[in-house]
Amino acid sequence: MQVFETPSEMAAWARAVRDRGETIAFVPTMGYLHEGHLSLMREARERGQHLVASIFVNPLQFGANEDLDTYPRDAAGDAAKCRDVGVDVLFTPTKASLYPDGFQTTVQPGPIAGPLCGASRPGHFEGVCTIVLKLFNLVRPNVGVFGRKDYQQLAVLRRMARDFDVDVDVLGMPIVRESDGVAMSSRNARLGADQRTQAQVLHRALDLAESLVAAGERGVEAIVAAAAVLIREQPLADIDYVELVDADDLSTICDLEAPAVLALAVKFGSVRLIDNRVLTP
Ligand code: PAJ
Repeated sequence: MQVFETPSEMAAWARAVRDRGETIAFVPTMGYLHEGHLSLMREARERGQHLVASIFVNPLQFGANEDLDTYPRDAAGDAAKCRDVGVDVLFTPTKASLYPDGFQTTVQPGPIAGPLCGASRPGHFEGVCTIVLKLFNLVRPNVGVFGRKDYQQLAVLRRMARDFDVDVDVLGMPIVRESDGVAMSSRNARLGADQRTQAQVLHRALDLAESLVAAGERGVEAIVAAAAVLIREQPLADIDYVELVDADDLSTICDLEAPAVLALAVKFGSVRLIDNRVLTP
């Protein structure tokens, strides 16, 4: 496995590979890798002749009062996992190399970045789009592989790739969960024991909503209310949002007539967890 720390090394390698007509599959991450990330890398392994992964905790996508400083990091452990899963190139740029003095241009996503995490984390998706476009330009992937755990992120990035004519397939992969149903997340490492137990309520709320829909419920308000009531039973859970929106463009809906996504963001102390499920009538 080669490790590149500078954008120029990364770009030179990618240019040579693409000039030879070979394909690149790419998995961008913020590190502290878990099975969710590794599942994307295994899929990407099959999607291109060369597998590139990146690790960069992107300051531009964190708000002033968010967890940039406490975001978990494990450079050595992450490199070992990447090597084991068959990464060819690990790109670990520094903040100064990606955002040098004078950097000033950002990508402003449209209405798809408005609701859900876009509403509770102003500027977040602008930061995500900006870094991912920069990474796409440096890595020049044929395929970019992302998790559906970050459902809105995937939708925003698909839109960006289309709108900016980026020649990359944006592929979405299923949510990988712990054995108790909690979606894998680097942030789970920061939960206390009681918070970690109560975090199971997110996937139980999604299960409940799914069973209501299976039983014929089509009212958005009723489904959202049932999920929220269940979550509020956990004393350490502090709801950021519970919303059921159109699965394609994330717009508001009244009744479940087409596939919709139930998206949850819940805080346990300073740790904010997200989860979601597509509900199909
Ligand atoms: P990060 O949170 O490290 O996630 C990297 C990728 O792993 C994302 O595509 C995310 O959706 C996916 N992922 C995380 N947990 C997952 C799980 N339990 N199951 C399946 N996939 C999962 O998302 C980011 O980093 C950043 O915003 C990034 C795109 C790298 C831009 O900075």
